[in-house]
Amino acid sequence: MAKDKDILPSPTNTGSSRNNTRTHRLLAYSLLVPCFVLGTIVSFRSNNFGFEKLELALSKVTTGCHRNTNNAAGVCSQVDALYPQNSKNAEAWTEFGKLIETNAFKSLAIDKLRGLIKIPSETYDSMPPPGQDPRWETLGQVHDYLAEAFPLIHKTFSLTKVNTYGLLYEWIGTDSSLKPYILAAHQDVVPVNPETVDSWTHPPYSGFFDGANIWGRGASDDKASLTAIMLTLETLLGKGWAPARTVVLAFGFDEEAGGVHGARSLGKALEETYGRDAFAFIVDEGGGFKDVYGTVFATPGVAEKGAFDVKVDVTSPGGHSSVPPAHTTIGYLAALITEYEQNPFPVELVRGSVPHDTLLCYASYGETIPRRLKHAIVKSTHSDKALRKVEELFVLPDPWYSSLVGTTQAIDIVQGGVKANALPESAYAIINHRINTASSIKETSARDAYTITALAHSHNLSLNAFGEDIIAPSAYSPAARGHIELSIAFPREIDPAPRTPTSGEGSEPWEFLSGTIKATYNAHRGISGNNNIIVSPGMSTGNTDTKHYWNLTRHIFRYNHKNSAYGGDIASGVHTVNENIPLDHYLEIIRFFTTLIINADEAVF
Ligand SMILES: *[C@@H]1O[C@H](CO)[C@@H](O)[C@H](O)[C@H]1NC(C)=O
Ligand SMILES: *[C@@H]1O[C@H](CO)[C@@H](O)[C@H](O)[C@H]1NC(C)=O
Repeated sequence: MAKDKDILPSPTNTGSSRNNTRTHRLLAYSLLVPCFVLGTIVSFRSNNFGFEKLELALSKVTTGCHRNTNNAAGVCSQVDALYPQNSKNAEAWTEFGKLIETNAFKSLAIDKLRGLIKIPSETYDSMPPPGQDPRWETLGQVHDYLAEAFPLIHKTFSLTKVNTYGLLYEWIGTDSSLKPYILAAHQDVVPVNPETVDSWTHPPYSGFFDGANIWGRGASDDKASLTAIMLTLETLLGKGWAPARTVVLAFGFDEEAGGVHGARSLGKALEETYGRDAFAFIVDEGGGFKDVYGTVFATPGVAEKGAFDVKVDVTSPGGHSSVPPAHTTIGYLAALITEYEQNPFPVELVRGSVPHDTLLCYASYGETIPRRLKHAIVKSTHSDKALRKVEELFVLPDPWYSSLVGTTQAIDIVQGGVKANALPESAYAIINHRINTASSIKETSARDAYTITALAHSHNLSLNAFGEDIIAPSAYSPAARGHIELSIAFPREIDPAPRTPTSGEGSEPWEFLSGTIKATYNAHRGISGNNNIIVSPGMSTGNTDTKHYWNLTRHIFRYNHKNSAYGGDIASGVHTVNENIPLDHYLEIIRFFTTLIINADEAVF
């Protein structure tokens, strides 16, 4: 996953089961008060409704409230754990569940993953297309390895290689009236910095298993998912299970470099073959689950920020450096950079945004959430003052959450000057933006121009932003002292993703995923119940390959059931040294895909 991490703040421990009914009731009550008919509350209390009844009352009232608040209790309504129902499926699922616990299966699963980790399929920024750069060739080894490790899949599925290294597998189901779905993962990994190889406890491409964890680049991001998907399907094939619903696998090969050669081509090929909106849903890498405020939350990504790189180019006449002007292009550029950094985009929690919905879920179900925060969150569904209070209490103190809700800017590249005694005729900087879901490329670029207009003017610099003259050179007489040009630095800008429906019309796939997560979590711990894990809309700060798949379905889930209790990116080493995954977490991912694939066959959307 590109510069990504779960939505949840610092973990405590995960794995406990608890009953949140009481908390839920209390919150439901407080949430409803603003738009609730008092009589209904009284009747629900005096009739001593059970949980089910309360849910019923809740959903009714939520509908009634809808006009006033986008975000009443319905936002965090929970579904029951979803288990396979028909006997063929239930049996296959139960049997698979038992198999996962055997030592033979565990060592098989370890072997499959370590084999893939051993192939250093690194991708780099700005690589030319496949065929024009030998660094792509490790992907050929990935293909050979997959063919050897998963022979039944390669005998049964159809396989199309898209743009040389994109893998598109299809397992045609028996019922063509059911929309197919896509399981996505990526074959590539971020490069291991050669200077850090010595800091790895086990060599980065060893796939070493130390009895508890599997080590190596890609162990977590994203080879465990890819292997889990393949191993699940290979095992189901081996058991003679066959799907009613067509299963499509899309494995990109340059996700860590924006998916411009891989997922972009795969998305096009899929749209050409299957058509627009042809898929029931897509599951790709993304959010996981962990304990927050004493409750375990899963946060599948249902939205994604936009991204945009802006080049700020300053030019002015050169000359001999013995007769310098007050400012060179580098001096102007420095002033512009300072201006940007002094005017960051505001951090603003938006009612109805995914990060706000996540907080509503914490307030609804977090056992130990501080009372003041909980009250502010509940009130923030209708009070702007309370919304600002939530920012103050929760968002601003957490740099990660602040980044999540706002548009960010980071000046990541600067370049200028060629010789110590020559005035630089040009200098540029590149700003990397991650665009808040409530905003757009258009709004971000307009603000970038606006931020520096006054400064440009004070220096008699002309300014052109994205093809439009903001300050024409003719504004100055006798002449402008130089020129600023804002442009798109790399042709990979992307608006924030459309949001996957999580309530109301079109939310069936979300409910299906939620029930699947709950069943997986229960089965892996041998527990039962519906609220051992709470499923909340989630979002990450980074992008995935799914940014190229918007036309394929409205229902994109960035989720691979990763247990993030373990300590987040640092302990798991994602994008840094010592990447690893605990065996048990990896097995739970396999259980997730097993449950998902079998449940998908019974889902009716
Ligand atoms: C800036 O432009 C103004 C208006 O054209 C002009 O009067 C002034 O002399 C210029 N100053 C410099 C430092 O070039
Ligand atoms: C999605 O469809 C639109 C309209 O047909 C097209 O312009 C766009 O390029 C497609 N997006 C992707 C990512 O293929």
